[in-house]
Amino acid sequence: MCDVVKEENTIGKILFTESQIVERAKELGAQITADFAGEPIVLIGTLKGAIVWMADLMKNINLDTEIDFVVASSYGKSTTTSGIVKISKDVELDLENKNVLIVEDIVDSGVTLKRLMEYFKERKAKCVKICSLLDKPARRITDINPDYVGFEVEDLFIIGYGLDYDQKYRNLPYISYLEP
Ligand code: IMP
Ligand code: MG
Repeated sequence: MCDVVKEENTIGKILFTESQIVERAKELGAQITADFAGEPIVLIGTLKGAIVWMADLMKNINLDTEIDFVVASSYGKSTTTSGIVKISKDVELDLENKNVLIVEDIVDSGVTLKRLMEYFKERKAKCVKICSLLDKPARRITDINPDYVGFEVEDLFIIGYGLDYDQKYRNLPYISYLEP
């Protein structure tokens, strides 16, 4: 076995359990199904953070559905956003005249989503909406507001259920935070 690296971060309390999240995915999936009223939809997940939430959500959307993924990141390694968004893995599907629903893990400053919304509109999507597992409105510096939100969180550094700190904790089957 490899040498064990000592853990320096302390995981906080559980904010949302897996069953709470799965229940919320059912509610939002039903709402999205009703809102799009029989029209086809393209779900675009933001890698890597949104994969766990997207898997829950998509099973509850009863529409003609395509899925794709994008990798978008703001420059810099810190826990605060630097404001410049780079798309390092693009969407492969044709988006022209499509209903696009961006599936995101968390909306923080809103910088990433603002850029992605502009970009998908440049690619001639018919409409672009956002469904985020979490919303952290205290940190917003843009006019972005997700159309569908799983849960609102306080200004904490959130981990688990896809969300990482330094690429770790994505596999936790619940949502927690790092002790400040
Ligand atoms: P933005 O600041 O809204 O552009 O957020 C960009 C991305 O930073 C989010 O999609 C997350 O992937 C990540 N992020 C923001 N806040 C947190 C957090 O509390 N925990 C883990 N990742 C976060
Ligand atoms: Mg993200």
